[in-house]
Amino acid sequence: MSRLSRKIKEYNEKLSEEKAQPLTACVKTFGCQMNEHDSEKIKGMLINMGYDIVPDYSVTGSGSIPDVIVFNTCCVRENAEDKIFGQLGAVKGAKRLKPELIVVVLGCMTEQEWVVERIKKSYRHVDLVLGTGNTYRLPEYMAARIFEGRRVIGAESEDSVPEGVPMLRDDKFKAYVTVMYGCDNFCSYCIVPYVRGRERSRKADDIIDEVKALVQSGAKEVMLLGQNVNSYGKGKSGDGTDFASLIRRVARETGIARVRFMTSHPKDLSPELIRAIAEEPAICAQLHLPVQSGSTSELKRMNRKYTREKYLDLVSEVRKMIPDVTLSTDIMIGFPGETEEEFADTLSLLEEVRFDAAFTFIYSKRQGTPAASWTDQVPAEIVNERFARLVETQNRISREKNEALEGKALSVLVEGPSRTDPSRLTGRTEGNKVVNFDVDAAVLNERGLNKPEAGDIVPVKITRAETWSLEGVYYGKNAEDP
Ligand code: 5AD
Ligand code: SF4
Repeated sequence: MSRLSRKIKEYNEKLSEEKAQPLTACVKTFGCQMNEHDSEKIKGMLINMGYDIVPDYSVTGSGSIPDVIVFNTCCVRENAEDKIFGQLGAVKGAKRLKPELIVVVLGCMTEQEWVVERIKKSYRHVDLVLGTGNTYRLPEYMAARIFEGRRVIGAESEDSVPEGVPMLRDDKFKAYVTVMYGCDNFCSYCIVPYVRGRERSRKADDIIDEVKALVQSGAKEVMLLGQNVNSYGKGKSGDGTDFASLIRRVARETGIARVRFMTSHPKDLSPELIRAIAEEPAICAQLHLPVQSGSTSELKRMNRKYTREKYLDLVSEVRKMIPDVTLSTDIMIGFPGETEEEFADTLSLLEEVRFDAAFTFIYSKRQGTPAASWTDQVPAEIVNERFARLVETQNRISREKNEALEGKALSVLVEGPSRTDPSRLTGRTEGNKVVNFDVDAAVLNERGLNKPEAGDIVPVKITRAETWSLEGVYYGKNAEDP
């Protein structure tokens, strides 16, 4: 633990004794897996500073107001920002009721100058603002606020590769592990390269050590995270290992049962990586490969650096080498200048590829990106109509893909009781599909087996498909049993 964290902790322990109650902190997370994982680090740092983590907060005083509220923000689309400003505004009331409350805003939104200005001017109840590259310095910022009463807003961020940051992992069996930070692709609609900085990689040995430690503490699955994992090891901070070699090392050297990764850019998904997925039993046969559009002309304006044909070739290569691969993608609708023909190309690509799942987004204009200044924005009615057609098409395909799994036995990592029916269990397949399943007690009895528990990987026979999940039943320990 850092010296500063210890000093804050000692101070907080005294305060908590005086108040005769623990000091608490709440972290609100918006956005992607990267942010969820960053929040695990923020919680780890807050615990080291002497706070108990609580899942939610009250702004009215009807429940208890915590001592710290942290907003870990996202700015990839405008609706995320609007929601965050709304929640941030609501916290003003909580601060009035509890003036010692410390409000922290960090994450992607704060890397935009206009956001920092707006917070300075209109959200005066915010105490600390940090960027994406200096989150690990939270204890310094907290010390400035606690010991000097200072408000620190919008300090310079940096392109760091921090190691040894404490973490409170949300899940014992499934863990996120960052392999690289930042993005250098500059797709013309995307704000990520501006707010997450230049690409930089962690050292392979640090990643291997982290996964080994996770396995020691019971983890069964890791997801390797990066905005663009195919560039792993390429920047000056990398140690020369490429992503295919890294993931093979994780699969072979750590004892982890399952490894998957996110996200891969189609322009540089390497044959070596496809081969690694095909060959290493621990690497899940699953690939998230954002296509964004099925139209070559639109892809060009998006600065994606591949064509429709190249993408389709890639998919057939992947399917040839990994026949049972689960494929998912991201699609964007209403990019500036999108014609009906371009949209038709996207729909036909969905039909041609038949993804298991697609995350569909309506284009959102992001200040500072090249596309924001283009004047041919698509009218909202047209966008909404296209979006509805897109979702309808993909939902049908997703359901059909799931239906094709009926009758099959799939290996499932058990997460625990199903939320909707606690007598059933829930877990995920190698393809990352949710399975809710029954356990046949009579069969277990007869075979002298225990009910599967969270963290077990068991074969489940799929009995019914839904659009976004599967239903199944567990009989025994061997995949052949059902
Ligand atoms: N508007 C809408 N969607 C966006 N994405 C990225 N930038 C934008 C934007 N400006 C989507 C892309 C990306 C996913 C994470 O978010 O589809 O793959
Ligand atoms: Fe954004 Fe493109 Fe980088 Fe993905 S690859 S984070 S869409 S700029």
